[in-house]
Amino acid sequence: MQRDEAIALLKTHVRNEGLINHCIATAAVMKAVASRMGEDENKWESIGILHDIDYEEVNGDMSHHGSNGYKILMDVGVGEDIAGPVKRHNYELCWDSDTPVDIALTASDNISGLIIACALVKGGDISAVTEKTVRKKMKDRSFAAGCNRERIKMIEKFIELPEFYNIAIEGMKNIKTELGLF
Ligand SMILES: [Fe+2]
Repeated sequence: MQRDEAIALLKTHVRNEGLINHCIATAAVMKAVASRMGEDENKWESIGILHDIDYEEVNGDMSHHGSNGYKILMDVGVGEDIAGPVKRHNYELCWDSDTPVDIALTASDNISGLIIACALVKGGDISAVTEKTVRKKMKDRSFAAGCNRERIKMIEKFIELPEFYNIAIEGMKNIKTELGLF
């Protein structure tokens, strides 16, 4: 599945621009982490793009988040290798996995918003966001409070945190204009 195909599919189910931005930001991190871990960059990017495809449909009923996304994806012929991680990323319900893709998705899902928030503090300039910025803001729990620090730290199983912050920042820089950043 190509990036533009995945984004088009996402947009058949998600209208909110902020949510679409969240998905492509998470995907940019996933792609960069895949490259670092020797995994399939294209596939991990698609997983990132599609991970919240059911978010508007479940309309706050998180007991169906992930499993509905899985169904949507399987129904249109997207394979288990992409739909499976989408289903399992509902941490509260499904978390019993320690595979690289599942851990990378939960960490990317949470770091992407933190980095966007860091860039917004700098007036939207992501080039001003460094590993040190992220490290500092990780400790300030009231900053971007919705970004779960424990789930970001799960990536330590595979990558040290400072390196992960750099990978995530660099990944998101590649699509900065799409995210409304510079
Ligand atoms: Fe998400």
